[in-house]
Amino acid sequence: MSNKKTHAFKAEIQQVLDLVIHSLYSKKEIFLRELLSNASDAIERAQYLGLTDKSIVADAPAWKIDIVADKEDKTLAISDNGIGMTEEELDKNLGVIANSGTKAFTQALKDKEQTNVPELIGQFGVGFYSAFMVAESVTVITLKRGEGQKAVKWISAGDGNYTLEEAAREKPGTTIVLKLREGMDEYLDEWRLRELVKKYSDFISYPIRFGEKGEAPKEDAAPLNTMKALWKRAKSEIKDEEYEEFYKHLAREQQAPLKTIHVSVEGAVEFKALLFIPKEAGFDLMMPNKKHGLSLYVRTVFIGSDFDLLLPEYLRFVKGVVDSSDLPLNVSREMLQDDAVIRKIKSNITGKILSTLAEMMKDNPEEYKTFYRAFGRVLKEGLHFDFENADKIKALLMFPSSKSEGSAFISLKDYAAAMPETQKDIYYLLSEDLETARISPQLEAVRKHGYDVLFFVDAIDQWIVESLGEFEGKKLVAIDKGSLELGSDTEKAETKKKLEEAAGDYKALLDLIKEHLKEDVSEVRLSPRMTDSACCLVADEHAMNASMERLMKAMNQEVPKQLRILELNPEHALLKRMKGMIEADKGNPKLADYVDLLYGQALLSEGSPLKNPQRFNRLVAGLMAGV
Ligand SMILES: Nc1ncnc2c1ncn2[C@@H]1O[C@H](COP(=O)(O)OP(=O)(O)OP(=O)(O)O)[C@@H](O)[C@H]1O
Ligand SMILES: [Mg+2]
Repeated sequence: MSNKKTHAFKAEIQQVLDLVIHSLYSKKEIFLRELLSNASDAIERAQYLGLTDKSIVADAPAWKIDIVADKEDKTLAISDNGIGMTEEELDKNLGVIANSGTKAFTQALKDKEQTNVPELIGQFGVGFYSAFMVAESVTVITLKRGEGQKAVKWISAGDGNYTLEEAAREKPGTTIVLKLREGMDEYLDEWRLRELVKKYSDFISYPIRFGEKGEAPKEDAAPLNTMKALWKRAKSEIKDEEYEEFYKHLAREQQAPLKTIHVSVEGAVEFKALLFIPKEAGFDLMMPNKKHGLSLYVRTVFIGSDFDLLLPEYLRFVKGVVDSSDLPLNVSREMLQDDAVIRKIKSNITGKILSTLAEMMKDNPEEYKTFYRAFGRVLKEGLHFDFENADKIKALLMFPSSKSEGSAFISLKDYAAAMPETQKDIYYLLSEDLETARISPQLEAVRKHGYDVLFFVDAIDQWIVESLGEFEGKKLVAIDKGSLELGSDTEKAETKKKLEEAAGDYKALLDLIKEHLKEDVSEVRLSPRMTDSACCLVADEHAMNASMERLMKAMNQEVPKQLRILELNPEHALLKRMKGMIEADKGNPKLADYVDLLYGQALLSEGSPLKNPQRFNRLVAGLMAGV
């Protein structure tokens, strides 16, 4: 063919309609959400136009949406007193699939660069047809607001045809009557309808009331919805009590939140979010598959709760709502998995939460401590998983330390700021619990130099050491690994010299201990690590330390036997005594017992079990009895 012609696609209307009705939405119950959203849009439009054209609101309407069930007739009617439709509009909006009068309305205002354009829900021009999922026929009776309008009726069975005729209707607005299909009786049930309104349309800003037996609800009946989409209002207009009440309602909590974060973002992605940090951790915080606390809304209409796509795992304690106008209403979770808008929202909220925490840490340390006690261990997971924000997370970390009292925390920043000039590295000690950490012999010399040591005692700390690596250019160094060199260069040289001299004096004893413990330790050496204790065990620079080893074993992991290094304090009276014993009599049988006791002490002081507790006890008893 030589001549190029453009052809328009043709469609089998019935099939497209079937597709829209049966494949677009995963759940039948969604129809109610769609019809209520349309009603809300219609009122919003009337209200907006009424601002400039008084004839539209001549009847001074109290805006409302009514749901009326009739169990006998098996009909469900949804009425609004919104803008209504002319015959022509009805024909276009409900007669053309994917034609959205709502979208056209917003677009026209935007094109005219009007300000305060109302945020309407409808976008695609398909939501209405979801009614056919539950209805065998749908009747729409509508009267357009304004002077000289005529009421019109639209009827269709969703089979590709519809009829239009004149109708009788006095008050402006629209009523959609659904003749329910067989088996759809649940949608006549007050309780079920109430549940659906709460779930999907709770934050629609007009009262949704329920009427039975085909009778309209009374004007003063309590609405089914709370109408309070707090996140859409300006921060300055919202009272603390309102935030608190909203949080309690949303999170089903008794207590007020620790912190409220109200976010409104405009630009490349637009969304609003109301986020809460609870005061206390829920019992399920550390459980696998814990539900996330964020719900997603699209233009005030509920899409889903527990949205794990909106927050990284390590911020799973945050509760709240996110409302975006950049997402389609008929989204499913699967579709959102890799959605660019969702990813942007996620990274934005993550940043916001981290910066709020940083501020809290700076401005309100007490509040931050409450937060950290509850959620610090979860936050730490972020070091491992959120590479992009690792530095921000590091700055939020706090640890108990050898200088801080009780379980008080110190941040890495404060630690670094308080480091004496001779201290180059950040010292830490991994341990199962604070008590064991505090009495570790490994601390002694470090403490004497006036250095502080961070205690890593949370189970997760084992895993984050690697990711932590360094802070502001200062390396993290374990005080129970490798050889620890402390103090100024002169001090270091002096210590080294002293040890070398002592090594000569102690040679015989060191050899004996090495031989006796050859199965248990890889090396025996003199060390400046202690001042008061006689001995301790340390790991090789690259090996696992004691608590890591126990953790791995507890998790049923194969751990190759880790031989550690026994370090001795040459200044200690006990060591001096043993040296005397070996000099007097190399074959003294007591020496072996003493070595066992020494090794036992080293094990006990780091919280490890003894190899042979009975023998240890017997030896101690013997010593006490002076045998
Ligand atoms: N209760 C109503 N009052 C006035 N107009 C209505 C009402 N319900 C629907 N309409 C009109 O019919 C159109 C089609 O509705 P439909 O729900 O199919 O699409 P939409 O709301 O525009 O978009 P979406 O697919 O996102 O719901 C609307 O855009 C609106 O112009
Ligand atoms: Mg709609």
